[in-house]
Amino acid sequence: MSDLNPEHPETFAFLQNRRSVPAKTMSGPGPGENEVRALIEIASRVPDHGKIAPWHFVQYGPDYCVKLGEMIEARFKEINTGYSDGILEIERGRFTRVPVVIGVISAPKEHSKVPQWEQVLSAGAAAMNLLTGANALGYDAQWLTEWVAFDDVLAPKFGVKPGEKIAGFIHIGTKQMPKTERDRPQIDDVFSIMTD
Ligand SMILES: Cc1cc2nc3c(=O)[nH]c(=O)nc-3n(C[C@H](O)[C@H](O)[C@H](O)COP(=O)(O)O)c2cc1C
Repeated sequence: MSDLNPEHPETFAFLQNRRSVPAKTMSGPGPGENEVRALIEIASRVPDHGKIAPWHFVQYGPDYCVKLGEMIEARFKEINTGYSDGILEIERGRFTRVPVVIGVISAPKEHSKVPQWEQVLSAGAAAMNLLTGANALGYDAQWLTEWVAFDDVLAPKFGVKPGEKIAGFIHIGTKQMPKTERDRPQIDDVFSIMTD
């Protein structure tokens, strides 16, 4: 590693050390309106074969997050039995843990040259850029889906149109306790060099 000589050492070190913070351990402050717009610009600046923007972003305003919580709780009760008040509180609070939640929606388009798989990957890249951008601004963040992202009844409430899927909800705020590291893969378990 000692022969590394990055042109952007700060960015390099930032990427080497970046990590998420659980949404339930964050609170405010979060990014303001202009910061969110800048983050969306960064999220949109990703490889996108054919320049078709197969994704869009939805920020859920604070009042709407409260409403989403009520809708999630109602849906949870509809599809589950035997839940405690504590569980219902968790369900109700899924979108009010942090000041800013942005849905990254994968919106693949019919295209003669760009397979849907590539378009889905581009949405993942957009979500990652949003997460990294939020960290670069100085906020903490976490990419979550949780069960709510896969519920067809709730989907339209998150701004998902027919044919679209939620790539993730990027939760952005500020950590309330020190960041801990988590295990990472050993390079040799995930990397190989083919020579023939
Ligand atoms: C598409 C996607 C969905 C995720 N959904 C969840 C989730 O629902 N719950 C959860 O605890 N973690 C979820 N995670 C993992 C968190 O983002 C977790 O914080 C992350 O793996 C930590 O990685 P980092 O520290 O490298 O950012 C998800 C990750 C991805 C990529």
